[in-house]
Amino acid sequence: MQITLNNGVVMPQVGFGVFQVPNDETEAAVSTALAAGYRSIDTAAVYGNEEGVGRAIAASGLARDELFVTTKLWNSDHGSAVAAYNVSLERLGLDWLDLYLVHWPAPANDRYLDAWSGLEELYAAGRVRAIGVSNFLPEHLHRVTRLGGTVPAVNQVELHPALQQRDVVTADAALGVVTEAWSPLAQGAMLVDPTVTAIADRLGRSAAQVILRWHLQQGRVVIPKSVTPSRIAENLDLTGFELTVGDLAAIDGLERDGRVGPHPARFNG
Ligand SMILES: NC(=O)c1ccc[n+]([C@@H]2O[C@H](COP(=O)([O-])OP(=O)(O)OC[C@H]3O[C@@H](n4cnc5c(N)ncnc54)[C@H](OP(=O)(O)O)[C@@H]3O)[C@@H](O)[C@H]2O)c1
Repeated sequence: MQITLNNGVVMPQVGFGVFQVPNDETEAAVSTALAAGYRSIDTAAVYGNEEGVGRAIAASGLARDELFVTTKLWNSDHGSAVAAYNVSLERLGLDWLDLYLVHWPAPANDRYLDAWSGLEELYAAGRVRAIGVSNFLPEHLHRVTRLGGTVPAVNQVELHPALQQRDVVTADAALGVVTEAWSPLAQGAMLVDPTVTAIADRLGRSAAQVILRWHLQQGRVVIPKSVTPSRIAENLDLTGFELTVGDLAAIDGLERDGRVGPHPARFNG
């Protein structure tokens, strides 16, 4: 399952997220994910585990072009994106990234347009295959695209059944930006929801698989995180079943503005 970004680069629709995985546990988790078949890894400079990701990639024996690696520019580095990119590459032990994201708009700092210019410079120099943003509300996205330069390939935002971000999804789609869901399982909170578990029971699948399938059937990229080998495998096993239109609508009905992370309009890091 893959998605073609607006610059023609192909991205796996299911990736492996490593937020809150300590650096010394990251190599094992990412190695398990790569062995299970994941080919896309999502990290960030601020997670403090780029080295662990890099060690797992190096140990995997996989060719670099078989992998899709994403990391993110932290808020305090908006004015020095190229230097921050070089540091991330060094920690990851890589020569280039598939996707580099501005992690948050941090609007009170008001430097995200500078950050975007830095990413455009990296992209124009051929040092990164695609550039995008994260946690951008429509107002932030429109400010970036009004510059008339590169349109972000991806907007990675908190998105799960309790927080569906319909305004963001609509703005992304209108601009040709792929929406990527972080905390796609609401950090586990949606896995006990009775609507979700009823669908899971009927299909003979887990609640996590039902929620991930709900994302995929709407054309989104997902990056579930787990350090549990059985869950890592389960979260990638998303073919061979399909949610009905009624299932999708029932999960759509679970929206309740249930944010698990910070609000992008107020978070400045
Ligand atoms: N751009 C951003 O600002 C931003 C912010 C947050 C996250 N992210 C990215 O999004 C990724 C995913 O988000 P997340 O880690 O916050 O939350 P998540 O993927 O929604 O949920 C992770 C939690 O769910 C549990 N879990 C995973 N699969 C499960 C399954 N099949 N059955 C039962 N429980 C399961 C995990 O437990 P165990 O690990 O104990 O198995 C963990 O506690 C992150 O790792 C990161 O890469 C980006």
